[in-house]
Amino acid sequence: MIEKIERVIKEAESFLQDNKLNSEDFRLKYLSRKGILNELFDDFKKINNEQKKIVGQNLNKLKNKLEDIHQELSISGKTTSIEKSSGAIPDLTLPEIPNQLGGLHPLTIVKRKILEIFARMGFNAEDGPEIESDWYNFSALNFAENHPAREMQDTFFVEKNAITKDDLLLRTHTSNVQIRLMEYKKPPIRSIMAGRVYRNEAISARAHCQFHQVEGLYVDKNVSFKDLKDTLLHFAKEMFGKDTKIRLRPSYFPFTEPSAEIDVSCFICHGKGCNICKHSGWVEIAGSGMVDPNVLENCNINSEEYTGFAFGMGIERITMLKYGINDLRLFFENDVRFLKQFNGIH
Ligand code: DAH
Repeated sequence: MIEKIERVIKEAESFLQDNKLNSEDFRLKYLSRKGILNELFDDFKKINNEQKKIVGQNLNKLKNKLEDIHQELSISGKTTSIEKSSGAIPDLTLPEIPNQLGGLHPLTIVKRKILEIFARMGFNAEDGPEIESDWYNFSALNFAENHPAREMQDTFFVEKNAITKDDLLLRTHTSNVQIRLMEYKKPPIRSIMAGRVYRNEAISARAHCQFHQVEGLYVDKNVSFKDLKDTLLHFAKEMFGKDTKIRLRPSYFPFTEPSAEIDVSCFICHGKGCNICKHSGWVEIAGSGMVDPNVLENCNINSEEYTGFAFGMGIERITMLKYGINDLRLFFENDVRFLKQFNGIH
């Protein structure tokens, strides 16, 4: 029997040299229930007591040797496909590991919600380019030639278009899409446009060089300031809760006249005063106004016949308010510990 054991050891060692054999074949042949090792242990039961000690020692040596060879074969990659990942046969009776579902980014959740609220009011979604010419981003929107917003510290300029010689830039707001829409569509226009915008700002908890805006535009006969107010009030109630109120503060934008900043009543403290609203009871969510007649005329729309309102809001800002997020940079760092908190929200 000792001779047999030695033969088996030699044969098993040759498995290591033979590239064609894998650890699973090896295991089946030597270590499985019906394998050679068990056979030898069965024979061992039958031998007489005097021989048991020495044969037992040899058998144990064989067992260790076979296990070592098996391990070596597994490590060197000569495994079957079932074994590959764990180095052991998986227990097929275990429940399956559920697929890890990803979630939506909080900005996507809020963008979709905004678009959905306006879609229900008849606004259709539109899109525009992020690399834009000076005309669509500034001039057509009634920005004066020397308006400070055009300056280097705000705008990222791109090399001039080689053919048209247009000044190119990364759009600083989504208002460019207003012009593009009015240029190719005639009123009535009722559109909502979401997208990424860029500004040359130092990155901090409150500012970033890229962020997202949503722009709204409604141009038709007899569109009034009251329509603007009603539309934004409805939006605020849908977004932040039905008890939300809005407040309009006079403001200035080159492309709207009159212009107003829109505040909503603080939905955290309900007007009592808290950190979010800086104890004023109100938080700003958008800029808005009646489309300046110059802008309509720049797009060949008769400003005697048509009027319109427009508004623009930052998606990051609305998301921060809605979910109590205090650092803008979290949106762009892709830290799964942050993102996971939004799993399951649509
Ligand atoms: N474009 C403005 C900004 O980026 C936001 C804005 C204000 C958009 C008033 C509008 C508007 O359409 O009417 O700050």
